[in-house]
Amino acid sequence: MSDAINDKGMSRRQMMIGTGALAATTALASLGGWAKSAHAQGGPTEKWPWPYVKLDPKETAEICYKEWYRVFCGCAVINSVFSQLREKVGEPYKSFPVDAFVFLEGGQMGWGTICGSPAGANIVANLIIGPRIAGAHEGHQIAADIMDFYSKANMPVFVPASPKIDPATIPQTVSESPLCHISVGRWMKAANKPLGSPERKDRCARVAASTAYRLVELLNDWHDGKYKPTSSFSCSKENGITGQFNCTDCHGDKVPEAPKS
Ligand code: HEC
Repeated sequence: MSDAINDKGMSRRQMMIGTGALAATTALASLGGWAKSAHAQGGPTEKWPWPYVKLDPKETAEICYKEWYRVFCGCAVINSVFSQLREKVGEPYKSFPVDAFVFLEGGQMGWGTICGSPAGANIVANLIIGPRIAGAHEGHQIAADIMDFYSKANMPVFVPASPKIDPATIPQTVSESPLCHISVGRWMKAANKPLGSPERKDRCARVAASTAYRLVELLNDWHDGKYKPTSSFSCSKENGITGQFNCTDCHGDKVPEAPKS
């Protein structure tokens, strides 16, 4: 089943590549249209947020796992959801150039900042639920839940039906951080494997799949009106500075205090 959807998604994209620049330009022009009208009115149009139908988390994670080997973490998460909605809903997903987000890989071009998996998931949640400026706090809140989940889960959680690498050779680690650098670094230390190893790649493919799984669970709950936030952390409220909860990772025992008022 997952193969069928994935293959359809792939062939659609390949068709688009086949028809070349014209198709790409049309897709981008159409996306530009969404963005421009939203901007012109200083807020969302009726075309944003985007429609959502419930998806199977496991199915989504399987697609994501395979997509990682093509476009890496951020795109894989986005595509695992949008390739299915392209089939089940159609527009605007058909016009969305999912592969535009390959740059999320390696914490953005290998700079080790936010891991592409939560970044991709948060793009999806905010497109589907809508922007905070329109009072759609759930989109924002689900993004916070994803950051929290990613940082605290014993990753990778998801085991695909046909893993490329024996899961027994891939240790699980808790990143305590949404940063690619820290997440991958902690895992590499625990596994004693280099960045280019097949084990590290499969670990990241499964981390992306685990994040996609969690994202769809949250979106399904939201769709059913059952969604409840799972994270209440706000570094700026608690500490007067934007940040994550793992202060001592970087500051050691001497965590500085932000200037008050
Ligand atoms: C990923 C690493 C990292 C994490 C995690 C982190 N910080 Fe920082 N933080 C830094 C760096 C690096 C600086 C710049 C320090 C400098 O230039 O002296 C900084 C600067 C600051 C500053 C600015 C004032 C100063 O004295 O440098 C404050 C306040 C601060 N951090 C508080 C926190 C708190 C509170 C947390 C946890 C809630 C936290 N940080 C988490 C890396 C981090």
